[in-house]
Amino acid sequence: MALSFDFSNMMAGTLPNGTGITEAQWLGAAERFAAAHAAVHARTGDLGFLTLATNEALLESSLAVAAKVKGKFDDVLLLGIGGSALGPIALRTALCPPRWNELTPAQRGGNPRLHVLDNVDPATIGATLARLDLSRTLVLVVSKSGGTVETMAQYLIVREALAQAVGEDQAKQHLVLVTDPKVGALRRIANDEGIPAVEIPANVGGRFSVLSPVGILPAALIGIDVRALLAGAAHVTSQAQNADLAKNLPGAFAVLQWLADREHGRPIQVLMPYADALRDLALWFVQLWAESLGKITPQGTSVGPTPLPALGATDQHSQVQLFMEGPQDKTVTFIAVKGREHEGRIPARHGDIPELGYLGGHSLGELIDIEQRATAGALAARGRFNATLSVDTVDAWHLGALMQLFALATAYAGELYGVNAFDQPGVELGKQFAYAMLGRAGSEQARAEWDALPKPDPRWAM
Ligand code: PA5
Repeated sequence: MALSFDFSNMMAGTLPNGTGITEAQWLGAAERFAAAHAAVHARTGDLGFLTLATNEALLESSLAVAAKVKGKFDDVLLLGIGGSALGPIALRTALCPPRWNELTPAQRGGNPRLHVLDNVDPATIGATLARLDLSRTLVLVVSKSGGTVETMAQYLIVREALAQAVGEDQAKQHLVLVTDPKVGALRRIANDEGIPAVEIPANVGGRFSVLSPVGILPAALIGIDVRALLAGAAHVTSQAQNADLAKNLPGAFAVLQWLADREHGRPIQVLMPYADALRDLALWFVQLWAESLGKITPQGTSVGPTPLPALGATDQHSQVQLFMEGPQDKTVTFIAVKGREHEGRIPARHGDIPELGYLGGHSLGELIDIEQRATAGALAARGRFNATLSVDTVDAWHLGALMQLFALATAYAGELYGVNAFDQPGVELGKQFAYAMLGRAGSEQARAEWDALPKPDPRWAM
């Protein structure tokens, strides 16, 4: 079980024409990284994500719920948004067989389907509720703050539908609230009505919460090996105790992206796994990197790289043209998978047709792997920064390791950019405007600011 990281294609010497991060820049960043490392690890007490993987009591809180409801439900419906939804989606896509929700109960090993409502689009919610048998559905309401408008709206709709389907009293047996131990509307509802609730530690924020009950509870419910997931994360956390940049993989990832952005004008940072199972991991990473690092520094400068998800080999027929010949403003980090459960042998047929004949005898696993290496090489040949993270296989251990790698890298990158990676003040104004328009008490000042905004100019509308 291992992760490896080859960043030769980010470096001068490998890349042509004097481009690339120089050895001097890399060595020079070591001291800066050591300071970032010290700052992050000194906060182990208040950065809860650092200890999630070894928090046995927290794990037990999810396992106890999963054991209690085992066999009682065919469907799990998760309500949440942002960090409360993207992690569970990424876990399901990576660690359950493809098209999980379409499999028969036997194919799912008796485990339930998992649906995640990560938006407030009425079409999706209506269609989902129309399909579910709510008398056989467990609803997880996941919100750290316990009051996020989208999740609360989802909750009100689903609670009403549950009450109609199974009755008010019985509805409580179909709900588990996953929220802060003390504050927020969900906690209040749990306390007032005696609805089962599982705690997200107070010091764990949304996008860093996948290894808390936010991700672990739904994962356990659908039969994912959550202990292996946490073991992979614990392995990476333990290796990251080392402040030596050359030995700290999350640190190397963060420093390289930061150098590429600040010293080489490459602020667009692509994560491109070569496995369908990891497609949603890239989306989870995008939220983590963007919401954590896109900030105004205390000195008043706007900073932050722009993460971009891609999927190999699919995007070779889409975004790769841009990566190869578009502006030199990107890095690409590939995730390569060394071992696959199904290699997918390609039959030998049409040997006389050149476009097909050469494929016979190879496998799909070989093809996708070769395509990843070919794309990395092609990008490098054109001076395009890229690196490859390799995992032995896509399993719970490696997924936990990857997620913790990116979480740590994000924390380090926050220090390198000089911003607080753990807040999100930039989403506040839009939220306040929405509250004002919905008539929420206390939003009068936002309403006044909204009303004072310039009105649409007829010259610029059609
Ligand atoms: O990362 C974050 O903090 C956010 O994206 C949150 O996850 C998102 O806003 C949902 O918040 P909550 O879990 O409080 O409902």
